[in-house]
Amino acid sequence: MSVSVYLEDSGIAERLVESRREQAQEALGRLWSGELDFTGWVKLPDRINEKSLSEIEECAKKIREDSDFLIVLGVGGSYMGAKAVIELLGERASGTKVLFAGYNFSARYVNEIFDEIEGKDISLCVISKSGSTTETLSAFGIFRKYMLDKYGREETAKRTYAITERRSNYLYDLAVEDGFTVLDIPLDIGGRYSVLTPVGLLPIAVSGIDIRELTRGAADLADPEKFRGDALDYAITRQLMYSFGKRIEVFEFFDPYAAFFGEWLKQLFGESEGKEGKGLFPTSLMFSRDLHSMGQFLQQGAPSFFETFVLAENTLQDVLVPQEAGGIFAGKTIQQINRCAEDGVYAAHVKAGVPALKITVDSFSPENVGELIYFFETQCAVSALLSGVDPFDQPGVEAYKAEMKANIKAL
Ligand code: PA5
Repeated sequence: MSVSVYLEDSGIAERLVESRREQAQEALGRLWSGELDFTGWVKLPDRINEKSLSEIEECAKKIREDSDFLIVLGVGGSYMGAKAVIELLGERASGTKVLFAGYNFSARYVNEIFDEIEGKDISLCVISKSGSTTETLSAFGIFRKYMLDKYGREETAKRTYAITERRSNYLYDLAVEDGFTVLDIPLDIGGRYSVLTPVGLLPIAVSGIDIRELTRGAADLADPEKFRGDALDYAITRQLMYSFGKRIEVFEFFDPYAAFFGEWLKQLFGESEGKEGKGLFPTSLMFSRDLHSMGQFLQQGAPSFFETFVLAENTLQDVLVPQEAGGIFAGKTIQQINRCAEDGVYAAHVKAGVPALKITVDSFSPENVGELIYFFETQCAVSALLSGVDPFDQPGVEAYKAEMKANIKAL
C-alpha cells in the first residue's frame, strides 16, 4: 500500500489500539460480507471493468470533441469527489473546462456561468442518485432551457448525460423520454462513496485525467488482506480519540489544490458518522494560509480536537526563490520551504500536546489518489461501525429536505 500512516504522536497507548484490532477486523468483515446495504463500493474496483471504463471514456471523448465546457450539476456525493480529484490532480489540457453547479441556490453563481459560456459550446452532465434533489434539478431546469433555446431538442439530448439509478425517478424518466445518455449509479453504492463510479469518473475523464490510473490505485487496495495487522489503526485511533473526549478532527493539507479533497473528507466522515448524538466533527485547513488565521487556536486553544496531516512527499513542480531575494529563503525552493513548514508545524503542535496523526503518499498522482480515496472510505466505514452507527444512511439530511420542500411548495 502506498498510503502510509504514522500514529506515534497520537498520545494513545499502542496496547489500547491493539486491543481494538479484532473488533476492527470484524467491522471490515461486515463490509466485505455484503450483509450491509450500500457496500457495493467495497468491491467496486473489481467491478470497474474494461466495458464500463470504455463507455465513460467514449462519452468523455465526445464531450471534449463537441464542447468548450461541461457543466456538471450535482450536490454532496454527486459532485464533491469529482471536484476534489480534478482540483488535486489538475485539469489536463483537454480543451474542455469542467464547471460545477447545482450545489447552491445562488442566482449570481448561475449568471456568472452564463457569462462564461456565452458563445461557447456546452454539454450538461446532471448527476443525482435519487433523481429528485432540489438543488440539482432546479439548476438542470435552468441550464436545460438554455440548451433547448440554443440547440433544439434533438441536439440538447445528444449533449446531455444523466447519471442516476437505472430505475424510475424524475431524472431517469426524463432522460428516457428525451433520449439523454444515461450512465448508472449502482443501486448498492451511496452518494459519498460513489466517486469511483460514473458519478466521479465522467467529469474526471473529461478533465483529461487518466481514470484507468485512478481506478487502478483503488483496485490495488481493494483486498481485505491489505487491511490486516495494523492497517486499520487509523480508524481505531479516531474512535479512541473520541472516547478520550476529542470531538473534532482537523484534516490539514500543505497544498492549496488539496483543499477540496478536505471538503470531500468532511462529507465522507460527517455524513457517515455524525448521527445518534455521536461522531467526530470533521473540518479541514489549508496551510500555510490557515496558520495565519487558525494557527493560534491549534497551538493554544481548547483541546477538543486532534490533527490529521494529509501529505504528499513529493510534488511534480518546484520554483526557486532567487538568491537576489535575500533573506533566509533565498536560493531555496518553494517545496523545500514547504517541507520546513510541514515539519515545523507538526513539531510545534506535538510539543504543545496536540495529538497529531500523519497520512502520507509519495505524491498526489492519479494512482495514489485512487488509493487514498479507497483508504479513507474504508477507514471511515470501519470507524463508523466501531462507534455503532450505520455509515451509509443520512436521516438528518432527509429531514432538512422535507422542511425545505414544504416551504418551496408554499411559495
Ligand atoms: O452522500 C450522500 O448520499 C448525499 O450527500 C447525496 O450525494 C446528496 O444528497 C445528493 O443526492 P442525490 O445524488 O440523490 O441528488
